[in-house]
Amino acid sequence: MANVIVIGAQWGDEGKGKITDLLSKSADVVVRYQGGVNAGHTVVVKDQTFKLHLIPSGILYPDTECIIGCGTVIDPKVLIEELDQLEQLGVSTENLLISETAHVTMPYHRILDQASEERRGEHRIGTTGRGIGPTYADKSERTGIRMIDLMDPESLRKRLRWTVEYKNVILEKLYNQTPLDPQAVIDEYLVYADRLRPHVVDSSLRIYDAIQRKRNILFEGAQGTLLDLDHGTYPYVTSSNPVAGGACVGTGVGPTVIDRVIGVAKAYTTRVGEGPFPTELHGITGELLCDRGAEFGTTTGRRRRCGWFDAVIGRYAVRINGLDCLAITKLDVLDEMDEISICVAYEVDGERCNDFPSNARRFARCKPIYKTVPGWKQSTANCRTLEDLPRQALDYLKLLAELMEVPIAIVSLGASRDQTIIVEDPIHGPKRALLSTNPIPTH
Ligand code: IMP
Repeated sequence: MANVIVIGAQWGDEGKGKITDLLSKSADVVVRYQGGVNAGHTVVVKDQTFKLHLIPSGILYPDTECIIGCGTVIDPKVLIEELDQLEQLGVSTENLLISETAHVTMPYHRILDQASEERRGEHRIGTTGRGIGPTYADKSERTGIRMIDLMDPESLRKRLRWTVEYKNVILEKLYNQTPLDPQAVIDEYLVYADRLRPHVVDSSLRIYDAIQRKRNILFEGAQGTLLDLDHGTYPYVTSSNPVAGGACVGTGVGPTVIDRVIGVAKAYTTRVGEGPFPTELHGITGELLCDRGAEFGTTTGRRRRCGWFDAVIGRYAVRINGLDCLAITKLDVLDEMDEISICVAYEVDGERCNDFPSNARRFARCKPIYKTVPGWKQSTANCRTLEDLPRQALDYLKLLAELMEVPIAIVSLGASRDQTIIVEDPIHGPKRALLSTNPIPTH
């Protein structure tokens, strides 16, 4: 039995969907612990492509229970669309449970998100415009609507009438927007409530029961460490806690139940939205990474900014999340490169800086110090063991593991499930056993 957290070790979009899908095979329960429909992951199974925003990819395994935890924010309209999509493709959604204390994204959240981004002008965050920040803001301000309110028509009517009127003042006076009709919002959300009711439960209790029964639980993070509200590149972050610590708060379990934390990182770096990105590549190499890696957002379709692997933020992710091991994804995207650079440290104000600076202004001034290694100039898409990899690709992975001071357990070389090298069983393998020795055998 092992309870495992999977987190993104960069700025999101690391390919967590594929890794959690692989690990879900040995999980009895998969729990999503933060974020909302800002996230998006694509899972390819045989010739079918699944695009999910809220539902854990574990839903593709018929016996796996999937839970959307209390730390998430739920847009019921999008969730219902996802349920419909899965059902149409023949995937049962009976095993999906939703926390009754998760907060609900309302139409005014989406409008406020987009209007406030417009108002910020050049100071905009580059949000997904899905109402995530305003939903979490209401949670903190204690004016939020929770799933439990949605399930109680009388309480929903009362609370929404008051809240919509209150939000209308802000929409009209501050943002010059058309006010919402409270009754129309109530009617719309009562329909959503009926559809979602069979799935809504006390999820912390369900997870506790699963722990008592020694089930394997996979805690699935959305976004990534550098987008964390407390530990990321604030203010260019999301409004939740994607770091491993968020898994306990966002599901209602104590830290003592967690056995392992697995970080997912791309073999290079991407970022969507605004904010500093020291290894960003603006020229042809950046475009090559974007095109080969199909770096366009699942949720917004935005082109992702691309750059070299940054081992400074990698080491930071190891520290902040207490990573036991790493899954490196999209190694094949580098197949055609003549040379590959890795940022090993920063230069800031004339000094070398080995650690991620928590001061955002200092981080914005950081310039990468690179180590450059030769590329392998051949396809890795069909490699299934470390021995199949070209020597330079193996050396590159070895260097990443050394720089990040953490073993690599999984290497992914394409979107499908079989395009994967399992170096060490990430869940049951010896914990941190490879850390002090050579993580990857050399030829
Ligand atoms: P929000 O989460 O929509 O408020 O957006 C805040 C920041 O997080 C923006 O820079 C978004 O581009 C980024 N972001 C949010 N969700 C994701 C994601 O799933 N992948 C990558 N970036 C994301």
